[in-house]
Amino acid sequence: MNKSVKFIHILAFTILGFVSCNSPKNQAIKSKVDQKVDALLNLMTLEEKIGQMNQYNGFWDVTGPTPKNGNAAKKYQDLKNGLVGSMLNVRGVKNVKAVQKIAVEETRLGIPLIIGFDVIHGHKTLAPIPLAEAASWDLEAIKASARNAAIEASAEGINWTFAPMVDISRDARWGRVMEGAGEDTYLGSLIAKARVEGFQGNDLSAHNTIAACAKHFAAYGFAEAGKEYNTTEVNPSTLRNTILPPFKAAKDAGVKTFMNAFNDVDGKPATGNAHLQRTILKEEWGFKGFVVSDWGSIKEMIAHGYAKDNKHAAEIAIKAGSDMDMESYAYVNHLAKLVKDGKVKETLINQAAARILKVKFELGLFDDPYKYCNEEREKKVLGSKKLHAGALNMAKKSIVLLKNSTNLLPLKKQGLNIAVIGDLADDKTSPLGSWRLASEDNTAISVIEGLKAHSSNNITFASGPKLYTGTPTFVKEIKINNKDKTGFNEALNAAKNKDVVIMVLGEYGFQSGEGRSRVNLGLPSFQQELLEAVYKVNQNIVLVMMNGRPLTINWANDNLPSIVEAWQLGTQSGNAIAQVLYGDYNPSGKLPMTFPKHVGQVPIYYNYKNTGRPKTSDHDANTVFWSHYGDISNEPLYEFGYGLSYTTFTYNNLKLSAKSLDKKGNIKVTFTLKNTGNYKGKEVVQLYIQDLYASIIRPVKELKGFKIIALKPGESKEVNFTIDSKTLEFYTANNKWEAEVGAFKVFVGGSSKTSLVDSFELID
Ligand code: NOJ
Repeated sequence: MNKSVKFIHILAFTILGFVSCNSPKNQAIKSKVDQKVDALLNLMTLEEKIGQMNQYNGFWDVTGPTPKNGNAAKKYQDLKNGLVGSMLNVRGVKNVKAVQKIAVEETRLGIPLIIGFDVIHGHKTLAPIPLAEAASWDLEAIKASARNAAIEASAEGINWTFAPMVDISRDARWGRVMEGAGEDTYLGSLIAKARVEGFQGNDLSAHNTIAACAKHFAAYGFAEAGKEYNTTEVNPSTLRNTILPPFKAAKDAGVKTFMNAFNDVDGKPATGNAHLQRTILKEEWGFKGFVVSDWGSIKEMIAHGYAKDNKHAAEIAIKAGSDMDMESYAYVNHLAKLVKDGKVKETLINQAAARILKVKFELGLFDDPYKYCNEEREKKVLGSKKLHAGALNMAKKSIVLLKNSTNLLPLKKQGLNIAVIGDLADDKTSPLGSWRLASEDNTAISVIEGLKAHSSNNITFASGPKLYTGTPTFVKEIKINNKDKTGFNEALNAAKNKDVVIMVLGEYGFQSGEGRSRVNLGLPSFQQELLEAVYKVNQNIVLVMMNGRPLTINWANDNLPSIVEAWQLGTQSGNAIAQVLYGDYNPSGKLPMTFPKHVGQVPIYYNYKNTGRPKTSDHDANTVFWSHYGDISNEPLYEFGYGLSYTTFTYNNLKLSAKSLDKKGNIKVTFTLKNTGNYKGKEVVQLYIQDLYASIIRPVKELKGFKIIALKPGESKEVNFTIDSKTLEFYTANNKWEAEVGAFKVFVGGSSKTSLVDSFELID
């Protein structure tokens, strides 16, 4: 009988004993899982409980010889002694089985490990980067994409992902914008929910669902000046109204874990921030899962200047509500002593360990610790056709058409002489983007491959100068090529006398992501120069952008006929791009993040607050005394929510069912959407409101609803939304969510610029 099965028997008896000596009333309100957790805790030593709170990175070739020295030997011994509750970055059935076997069969109690991994956008088969997926605004597709990621990751032994990242960010300098859902709280909250539901499925104990993790709690996306790991300046209203709602949405969707953050909020590192983790998350929101620290973030409180040493850091973190220590060695090395010295109450340990054990029970790990370890399934599922089809579907939906002023797109599938230019066009790695730890280099369909597979056009490829030198990795910066112009003239020659030039420009795959903050948002290396030179020999250019963040492409927008935002679309990238360029798929994506004209405008976002001196106020805009820059307009290059289609849509007949509502009532907003172009297409219709005066200044516009409407050429449809007082709520000066009576505007349209407007009132 293996240890965990034996353990289940012991547990059954213990539960019976435990239940009988606890008051019936207490037990009645406790779930079965909680009763099991309590019973198990009763069997555990203090050190074993702390062990559950300790997470180690994968530490040796797990199927290789036992490590004898150094860190790996300590970790191995700790694992054998039941002092490890979780491991991360161990994947593959063989490897997961090996570590799980030690936990289950060699430790005193045989408690299984929870195995974590950054499953961020797909796993081995990659979906578009999360920012790109957000551009689809298609919640069902995003949920399905997370579902597929969970199916593939769980087949490799993983049962917990460190995703979704739900950090709102308004700063394209921050490299991790690629990993989130963009700048908007409403869209971000719905996407957070979709992703949690996708990862966790309907039954967390199934073998192909995994626990999700809402991260990074909180405000990491507000790193000052977009500089990675930087401090934040966040006021309580921004925290409540802008930053926290996607976390709350994840919590409400049943997310099992949270990860805290590297940054500080209000002078306290998030990891040691009791206001965030205890008061808001656990008390106010009633979150019952557990909080994992970010990598080494407990120890990093020393560098922050918030803890004296690692022992002090452990004390601060546990008191603040961080339940699991990822790679700080703070809990495993110091917590027991802190308890024995009376500095930390054992109840805090009990509570943290209980939260972790509970998730393990819910995953079904105690019923079968090897349930994710089926080699047959692993072979069948990893890289399956179904997963590739899902990745392709998501990739097409993520593409945003930014410009098509002469209807150069879609392209014909035969008879064209096309030049494809740009180092990224034949790159089979960059389209995978960042955060792709389980995938292999060179596995994406390149743009060239996609274009060739989808047409019989005559295609000539010229890379132009290399974008970078060396092999990009997740960990280290590589050199952007600013010296070697080899290939420049060849590219110009290739462009001459062609019907169309497709230029694929942007960032290499690891140029965004963690640790990849940048102050230049233009096209790196010689790409801008190349673009302008090619334009001189052939103006029929389709620019395909491959990037992990908004870039300042003003020149392209001013001069080129067609621009397609293709982000980093994952394994199926080239096929998705080809299907869009050739019109097999009519793009319908909309930007989830504002594209600035200049990096100096950043942070830039559509839902800013008005100053006392907006352009439209009484102040004379001919003078300098209004809120603006002297050398650039306030306008972005492309606004939030913007995106075109091969067809066109018009918005008409905005009607409100009433001009006022009270707190129990509602108003129906209707308008007519018409497809006025020649293609069938989908439009993401968007509803915004503005609260004209309030106890806390409200944004000039806030997204409050959207729908994806499919129409044939010439077809019209009446679209409706309902506004009630819930729609109008915000975190007010009373420190609670409520709607305040007063005047509102309502806007609808195909982007945050919107085209129709009306007004109404909320009355008592
Ligand atoms: C650090 C990152 O901030 C976090 O998002 C990630 O999950 C962990 N490393 C583990 O890889």
